[in-house]
Amino acid sequence: MAGYALDNSWERARRRLSLLEQHLDPMTKRRAIALGLGEGWNCLEVGAGGGSIATWLSDQVGPTGKVVATDINTALLQDLQRPNLEPRRHDIVSDDLPEGAFDFVHTRWLLHHLPQPDVAIARMVAAVRPGGWLLLEEVDFFPVHTSESAEYRDFMVALTDTVVKASGRDCFWARALPQLVARAGLSKIGGEGDFPLLQGGSPSAEFFALTAEQMHDRMIASGAISVERMDHALRLLASPDFWAFGGGGVAVWGQRPG
Ligand SMILES: C[S@@+](CC[C@H](N)C(=O)[O-])C[C@H]1O[C@@H](n2cnc3c(N)ncnc32)[C@H](O)[C@@H]1O
Repeated sequence: MAGYALDNSWERARRRLSLLEQHLDPMTKRRAIALGLGEGWNCLEVGAGGGSIATWLSDQVGPTGKVVATDINTALLQDLQRPNLEPRRHDIVSDDLPEGAFDFVHTRWLLHHLPQPDVAIARMVAAVRPGGWLLLEEVDFFPVHTSESAEYRDFMVALTDTVVKASGRDCFWARALPQLVARAGLSKIGGEGDFPLLQGGSPSAEFFALTAEQMHDRMIASGAISVERMDHALRLLASPDFWAFGGGGVAVWGQRPG
């Protein structure tokens, strides 16, 4: 897809996404189980990244179930050799999905990269079978503004702005997700937010540091942050004495009527 800034073919992409998975997987698993995920379910994981949730889903649904794991770049999914798991190269912006085919459709930390998240949401809703569930998990970086460290605040804003620049979006929008899902025609809509503490040196701190490493030249070229200020923020992210709020999680789910 034009404009996605964080190519999964980058040599440290697996490490970077595994850090995100360490931080987010427990919440995703809890939510999926609460929606009834179990044996025999047919699942679609959109923007599957490093594949930890796709792999976990394949364990949960067992031999009678199936998992399709899509991404625009399946470099990190190709090694997942499982009879009930199919990695598929697919762009959620422009490529069709089978309609009414899945008991469970999930995506995480993808929508903020897309110019029109509502188009992707509509496509995912249509892929859910009547009675099946959609679970969307996103991030809204509003909690970073509470940090006492101006360097950390500036760094996170510069980082997130640079990452989503090509899509013309920002990373302070996921608060709109419940409305978007409600308008998409689902029922039994529920949701929850979380605003995790970030400690320097933790997996999520290292995730943002690695994201900045991948985005370094674009961040500096954009003028959004100086090299000195960026280095200062990276030292904070590496120090166990540093604490702040990370990005706020926004999870919304709903059931397809019928
Ligand atoms: C921040 S990563 C999140 C990965 C995974 N969902 C997770 O939470 O661990 C975003 C993923 O979305 C994929 N992606 C970006 N644009 C996409 C698109 N238009 N269609 C499908 N996948 C896309 C990227 O290649 C990347 O793997």
